[in-house]
Amino acid sequence: MDATHSGSGAPMATDVITLITSDHRTVESLFERLKKEKGDPKATVAELHALLIAHARAEEDRVYPGIDAHHSVEEHKEAEVLLDALVRAQPGTTEFRKTLKELITAVTHHVEEEETKILPALAKSAGEKRLKELGKAFKERRAEELKALSVPKQTSPAGSREGATKAELYEKAQKADIPGRSQMGKKELAEALRHAKS
Ligand SMILES: [Fe+2]
Ligand SMILES: [Fe+2]
Repeated sequence: MDATHSGSGAPMATDVITLITSDHRTVESLFERLKKEKGDPKATVAELHALLIAHARAEEDRVYPGIDAHHSVEEHKEAEVLLDALVRAQPGTTEFRKTLKELITAVTHHVEEEETKILPALAKSAGEKRLKELGKAFKERRAEELKALSVPKQTSPAGSREGATKAELYEKAQKADIPGRSQMGKKELAEALRHAKS
């Protein structure tokens, strides 16, 4: 592992601001792809959905707790509702375009606020070392969430609801309109679905 170090003795780590900002740029490029109707819109929406949820969860769990970000959490919820609607909408329809437009407006506003207020304030209050620690924590939480959202069926733990993946359970939870679903883990989703049906 140490072979990747430059020899300066400093561990290779990316600060949280760089990581968050880079995700924002990826989200924007996915928006562009959808607006221009390039490629497979369903696949792009699925990618956008996973990335935005994982990004928001990692921010909420690992970055926001130390700062006053209540308003930001509200905006995440708003974006998630629109994201759910976009997943349900049929590409090429007026509804799809309208929902996409609303999502872009909401996320663009949120990203701008994060990059002009929240992140600069964080950069000012936390030292370089802390920003890298936060970066590591953010990255780990994000990876965990991305993995949970795309576990292939075969590798689901035994005993889980017919081997459904978290993404599948999440989709069912969307249809059943289970409140707080985006904050739930796989087990909780399965549990909530059982209750919703009984
Ligand atoms: Fe963000
Ligand atoms: Fe955010």
